[in-house]
Amino acid sequence: MFKKLKILDEKDKRLRLISKDVVFPLSKEEKQTIKDAMENLRYSQIDEYAKKYNLRAGWGLSAIQIGIQKRWFVIVEEQEDGSFKDYFFANPKIISNSEEKIYVEQGEGCLSVNREVIGIIPRYARVTVEAYDINGGKFQIRLREDMAICVQHEMDHLQGILFFDRIDKKNPFKDADKYRSI
Ligand code: NI
Repeated sequence: MFKKLKILDEKDKRLRLISKDVVFPLSKEEKQTIKDAMENLRYSQIDEYAKKYNLRAGWGLSAIQIGIQKRWFVIVEEQEDGSFKDYFFANPKIISNSEEKIYVEQGEGCLSVNREVIGIIPRYARVTVEAYDINGGKFQIRLREDMAICVQHEMDHLQGILFFDRIDKKNPFKDADKYRSI
């Protein structure tokens, strides 16, 4: 059965909390919540279900966005063949990054921010992240382009940062010419 998760809105102060390290092993309930989060993201990217359950499309969701103050997030990425790839990261750390920075030309979005925000956020074009999988196994992954941006956006959530915090208030498109847009 599909369980629609209640996602906190930007005004909710819990989004400003710094999340705490995930402790392994995860409980059955925690694993189920993670599965539910992935399913919510997958459904949000499929028109039929997005309509049926009134879901805003999104790729990434951090635990704190559903009120859980733990350092984990999930990403669901649609593949070229139309299938979906699920990612889970716990206690993530960026261990290396490119010099190059990029930004999303249309601006970033967030399931907790239900309005249009203009402006750009330069982020590393490539990052190597070390994190733990759902069973507590350590892994490293190299990410680039939109996936790299997505992970940096989600890691911000673990620090209580929302994407618009990083937009220059006076000049939302400041330095746009210095970085590559995607
Ligand atoms: Ni977000």
